[in-house]
Parts: sequence; structure tokens; C-alpha cells
Amino acid sequence: MPTDLVVVGAGGFGREVLDVVEAWNIAHPDERFNVLGVVDDSPSELNLRRLERRGYKHLGGTDSFTAPVDGINYLIGVGNPDIRARIAECCDARGWTPATAVHPSASIGSGSRIGAGTIICGGVQVSTNVRLGRHVNLNPGSVVGHDAALEDFVSVNPGGIVSGDVLVQERVLVGAGAVVLQGRTVGASALVGASACVTKDIEPKLTVVGVPSRPLGRNEK
Ligand SMILES: CC(C)(COP(=O)(O)OP(=O)(O)OC[C@H]1O[C@@H](n2cnc3c(N)ncnc32)[C@H](O)[C@@H]1OP(=O)(O)O)[C@@H](O)C(=O)NCCC(=O)NCCS
Repeated sequence: MPTDLVVVGAGGFGREVLDVVEAWNIAHPDERFNVLGVVDDSPSELNLRRLERRGYKHLGGTDSFTAPVDGINYLIGVGNPDIRARIAECCDARGWTPATAVHPSASIGSGSRIGAGTIICGGVQVSTNVRLGRHVNLNPGSVVGHDAALEDFVSVNPGGIVSGDVLVQERVLVGAGAVVLQGRTVGASALVGASACVTKDIEPKLTVVGVPSRPLGRNEK
């Protein structure tokens, strides 16, 4: 019996999540998701047309959509960690259950744990003994090294590399192509800019850019 699923978010990442679910369904026919459609409070006309072209329904906003059945699962296709956390709170309050989606081309090392709501896209490599919290997003081609821990609502954008033994605290966004060197800690709600190389621990809420990374606006030598 397939599991009924809604995807929250009609934007680019929401539709990438649909790709992950479609690939999962082909690889795991006995554990299929039945996608009821996409929930989004204010989708653009363009994204609505894109959804329609793929044959998915827009089911309404998070408040207006009433699940037709009990036991509904959800995945959040939204890259921004804070927005994702708000949506998760809203979905949990409605009694929905976070699903977990892993693209079949992703590799997951031994002993690694994946929290509920986490989405792992195509070509991702998760090494051994990694801990991924709830609602973590690992975008295509990102890499997480051995013994690393990514707390709840962390996003790693395409090609981002989190090295071994790194601690990425909750709600951090690691930008596309950025590297966090081994053993560092990235503080909660920090933002690592695209292509940055993190060589030192990062304070919570700080935005850093560049190689080596420095706080945004203080990049001059
Ligand atoms: C770092 C970041 C958050 C800054 O965003 P922002 O606050 O909107 O900054 P702006 O675009 O206004 O740029 C501000 C300054 O920072 C510089 N800058 C922005 N991003 C940078 C980056 N990743 N590396 C180096 N410098 C960067 C800009 O050139 C600009 O410099 P200037 O003031 O000398 O002209 C953002 O650019 C970023 O890298 N986000 C990661 C998102 C990502 O991965 N996107 C890909 C999705 S697939």
C-alpha cells in the first residue's frame, strides 16, 4: 500500500523533491509514495504551470489544504532553513508525519543516521557514522564526511562539502560549492556563502564568504 504524501513548496527545490520521490518510487516499488500534490501558500503562475506540465496538482496553502485521509506524510521542498522550520511546525501541528526521501543514486555510509523529514538528492555522498537531524536538505552532489553531524533544518546547497568530524548546528545554510574543513563547528543559523572555504569555527548567525571565509563585509585583507 503506497504512503500518501504531500510536498510543500512549488518552487525549484519543491519540484526537485518530486524528482527524488519519483526516482525513489522506481527503485523501491514496495515502499512507494502516492503523491497527492503540492501545497504552497503563494505559488507563482509560472510555477503552477510547471507543476501542471508534470501532472501534479496544487492542493492549496498549508492552512487551506485539508488532508483527505489520515496518516498523511509530508516533505518540505523549501531551501531556506527558517522557513522550513516554520512549515514543519505547522505540518506537525496538523498531525502530518514527516517522510524521508533518499535518491537512489545517493550513497549512505555504514552507521549513518537520517532524521525524519530529511531529503537527500541525486549524487549526494554521505560517509560513515554521519548524523543527519530532522528536515536536513542535502542538494545534488553535496558531500558529508565521516563522523560529521548536521543538526535539524540544515541545508547544504549543490556541491557543498562538509568534511569529516564537522558539527553543523541547526538552521545553517552551506552555500553551493562551499567547503567546511574537517573538525570545524558552524554555529546555529550561520550562512556559509557560495564557494566559501571555512577554515575556522563560525559563530552563530554569522554570514561568511570567500577563501578563507570571513564575515560578509569584512573580506578585505
Ligand atoms: C553570501 C550571500 C548570502 C550574500 O547574499 P546577499 O546578502 O544578498 O549579498 P549581495 O548579493 O547583496 O552581495 C553583497 C556583497 O557580497 C558579495 N558576495 C555575495 N555573495 C558572495 C559569495 N558567495 N562570495 C564572495 N562574495 C560574495 C557581493 O559581491 C557583494 O559585494 P560588494 O558589496 O563588494 O558588491 C549569498 O550571495 C550566497 O552566497 N548565498 C548562498 C546561496 C547559494 O548557495 N545559492 C546557490 C543556490 S543553488
